Amino acid sequence: MSLMKVAAAGALRAGVRQAGVLIVLLGLRAGVVGAQELKYPQTTFHPVSEYGASQNAVFANTLWWTMGILLLVIVLTLYAAWRFRERPDSPEPQHIHGNTVLEIAWTLIPAMIVVLIAIPTIRTIFDNQRDAPEGALQVEVIGHQWWWEFRYPEQGVVTANQLYLPVGRPIELKLHSADVIHSFWLPRIGGKRDVNPQAKAHEGEQPSFNRIVFTVDSAGYYPGQCAEYCGDSHAIMRMSALAVAPAEFEAWVAAMRRGDAEGGASPGAQAQGVQAQGVQPPASDASMAGMNLGALPAPTGAGSAVQPPVTDAEWVAAGRKVFLSKPCTACHTIQGTTAVGAIGPNLTRVGARPHIGAGALENTRDNLARWIRDPQSVKPGALMPGALRPGGNFPPTNLSEAEIQAIAHYLQSLK
Ligand code: CUA
Repeated sequence: MSLMKVAAAGALRAGVRQAGVLIVLLGLRAGVVGAQELKYPQTTFHPVSEYGASQNAVFANTLWWTMGILLLVIVLTLYAAWRFRERPDSPEPQHIHGNTVLEIAWTLIPAMIVVLIAIPTIRTIFDNQRDAPEGALQVEVIGHQWWWEFRYPEQGVVTANQLYLPVGRPIELKLHSADVIHSFWLPRIGGKRDVNPQAKAHEGEQPSFNRIVFTVDSAGYYPGQCAEYCGDSHAIMRMSALAVAPAEFEAWVAAMRRGDAEGGASPGAQAQGVQAQGVQPPASDASMAGMNLGALPAPTGAGSAVQPPVTDAEWVAAGRKVFLSKPCTACHTIQGTTAVGAIGPNLTRVGARPHIGAGALENTRDNLARWIRDPQSVKPGALMPGALRPGGNFPPTNLSEAEIQAIAHYLQSLK
């Protein structure tokens, strides 16, 4: 008997210690999350919009009520186990059958807690569905297998996978899908919203879409992703929002509208791109000789083969010619050029995006070449054809390695 008592007391002490550790850990958590912000950029605990903050507040409200209940239950259980433990000569416990006061209390108190959780929750649900204020920036979000299209109808700008937003201005996203159901989720801006295919509108009706209204309060880079399984490469349907000062946003709009009208990015941007990568453009090695690049400067010597590009600017110019003369233009638009395809992502200023393939790869020249060469190897099921493999309903592009390199140079230059 006494051995059992010792064991029980030991177990109880261990239990109390564990509960203490749990409580201390919960208390520390708030501080720890701050330090992990960079490690977990898709945290929902550090919202940067009132939309995200309102949802985080609902979560916190629910969390603290339930944590309080948990703590109360743990303390009462441990107290009862200790206070009413069996002792030598302890009398038979009193038998109780029903206690009206207790039963009313443990029905009413939880009901009141549910109400205290429900009121802010329902208020937030309605608040999150409110109409956009006057002057909100309109952005049409279109989910595609497996990338995001962002249209700014008032600005006449279309981009892909990176959403540009001005800080401090209300934004209204209108979301719909070009194919299956996706879910739009930029965790630091706010919660998920379904991106549904649009049902055919009836006579005199507007097609329906889901909406999110929010205002971003601090500049920054906020990654996100599709949050509803939508096929093979659902996991590579990422995106990001870049929130910038209003003047910077206007500058971006102007640059997007200009696009590649001058036939190449500014020399400064090109030089910057090369330096940032620390990669020298491929020199004119033997494997590049004799390639078919109709865009090259005229051969210098009589009888010489077509000269491969040497300088970065030559590669970019060659890539531009190749891009505009190949089937690339059937699917992609680059503002300011003859490429006006609308099936694939708009590539205007694609060189300035952090990633390619909707977050599949970092945006480097090597990765661009890899993507153009064989998108299926990077993103299974992608609708883009590779040099040798078809993609979607499209036959292989049959681009040569030199043409791929040239296009990669050109796309990288579009900053
Ligand atoms: Cu789109 Cu998952």
